[in-house]
This record gives sequence, C-alpha cells and structure tokens, in this order.
Amino acid sequence: MPEPKVAIVTGAAQGIGRAIALRLAREGFVLALADVPGARDKLDGAVAEVGGRAIAVECDVRHKAEVDALVAAAVDAFGRLDVMVANAGIAPTDTFLDLTVDAYDTLYAINQRGVLLCYQAAARQFIAQGGGGKLIAACSVSGFDTQLHQTGYCSTKFAVRSLNQGAARELGRYGITANVYCPGTVNTPMWQKMDEAFVGEDGARAPGVLTQRKIDATPLGRIAETEDVADLVAFLAGPGSNFVSGQAIQVCGGEYVT
Ligand SMILES: NC(=O)c1ccc[n+]([C@@H]2O[C@H](COP(=O)([O-])OP(=O)(O)OC[C@H]3O[C@@H](n4cnc5c(N)ncnc54)[C@H](O)[C@@H]3O)[C@@H](O)[C@H]2O)c1
Repeated sequence: MPEPKVAIVTGAAQGIGRAIALRLAREGFVLALADVPGARDKLDGAVAEVGGRAIAVECDVRHKAEVDALVAAAVDAFGRLDVMVANAGIAPTDTFLDLTVDAYDTLYAINQRGVLLCYQAAARQFIAQGGGGKLIAACSVSGFDTQLHQTGYCSTKFAVRSLNQGAARELGRYGITANVYCPGTVNTPMWQKMDEAFVGEDGARAPGVLTQRKIDATPLGRIAETEDVADLVAFLAGPGSNFVSGQAIQVCGGEYVT
C-alpha cells in the first residue's frame, strides 16, 4: 500500500474549506485542518466527520509563526506534506468610500498575506523533502472582475492570482505546481452573510434578492454548492493536474467567461 498523501486545508471549520477536507479525505488524503481559535468547536466537528484521518490545528493565517507551526504540526503527525490548500478568507462588504484603512489591512492580511505565508511554508517543506508538491489557494471570479461594494475583497483576489503566477514561475524548477480555484457564488455562511447585508434599490435590506440575481445570471441555473468547488480542488490536488500550473480556474456555472 502506498503511503497516503498529506494535505493541509486552512479555513476548514465550515463552508468551502470543510467540503474540501471531506472530499480530500474520500480521495485517501490524511489532513491537517486549520482555522482560527474561535472556530475550534466547528473545526473539531470537521475532524470528527473526516474520521480519524485528520488533526485539528488552531492557526490564524495572518501570522507567519502560526503558519510555520501548522506545517510543522502536519509533518510531525504524518511525516511529510504533499498539498497546501490556502482556503481561509473573509469577505466584508463596504462601499468604496466607507472602506477603512483597518478593514483594508485586515482583508489583505488574511486573504493575500495568508496565502503568501501558506505557500512559502509549504514550498519550503516540499523542497526539503526533495521537490514535488501542490500549492492551491482560494481566489474567486472576483479575481477577474470587481463586484459592487467589494472593492477591497476583489483587489485581494486579483493579488492572489498574481501571487500564484509568481509561485508557479519560480517554484516549477522544484516540481511544485501552483493553481487557484475561482468560485462564483457558493452557498456558504460567507455568502449568506453577504446576501443578508444586501440593500435593494429602495434602500432596505432585501435578503434573497442577490442570490436570485446570481441564479438568473448563471447559465447553469443555480449558485454553487461547496461540493462543486471541492470537486475542482480534488482535481488540482490529484495526479490528473500534474502538468497544470500557474492557472486560475473558475467554477461558476458559466456566469463569468473571462
Ligand atoms: N462563498 C463564496 O461565494 C465564495 C466565492 C468565491 C471565493 N470564495 C473564497 O473561498 C474561501 C472560503 O470561503 P467560504 O465561503 O467557505 O467562507 P466562510 O466564511 O464560510 O469560511 C471561511 C473560513 O475561514 C476561516 N478564517 C477566516 N479568517 C481566518 C484566519 N485569519 N485564519 C484562519 N482561518 C480563517 C473562518 O473562520 C471560516 O471557518 C474564501 O477565501 C473566499 O474568499 C468564496
């Protein structure tokens, strides 16, 4: 029996990260599942759902020491690392004029610096093991086109796409690939919050309206479920994508065609 492959998933307590964890476990991976300390109960729930094939690690991806410790914990537990899925992210909604310096800096620290730190720590481990390994991160269709009241968020996702290209260019010589998945609208707590915050033309909150608009704009006639994204990540984490690198792949039901 070959040794199981080892993957890290950040932001794994809920939403897309949790679905990725479950899917990779089904593909035979053993996992280090990471999230912020405040999400510990849900993270433990994800580990239990994966069933003995995972460890839980509290890690705030903003901080280099915590990300380095996450990679060390995975290697301590399972002996090596094969895949990094830098999935953690936040998506506050602010108008362009209301976006504060603090909110902007927090967005960049989590969505963009978090990916940089995860990629660096994983790549150093891959190289120490003799090369190979797959870097994967959450981008978005917002990495191609700006959404209303999401300028800060979208700019972090443009930056993630660029950072991923740089990683692919510089790390290919070690046999390392780097790719990002770019969901459209996915039915998760993040999206539900955005949908509830949506203010209609009459100035009142109008939950459900934004979701319906997204459904209407999507040729496949629905928003994504987390499993739709996990399917793509399973491909990027598996041998079928060995010659795919530097790519940003959309999973949006055809809503965006850039
Ligand atoms: N839901 C969507 O429609 C959608 C669309 C495109 C891209 N994405 C991206 O997919 C990723 C996952 O989104 P989701 O919808 O599952 O979101 P979510 O809010 O449901 O889950 C995100 C998880 O990340 C964790 N997290 C937040 N900050 C963290 C930090 N500093 N360190 C570690 N973990 C942290 C949260 O605790 C949470 O468990 C994000 O990067 C998001 O930008 C989501």
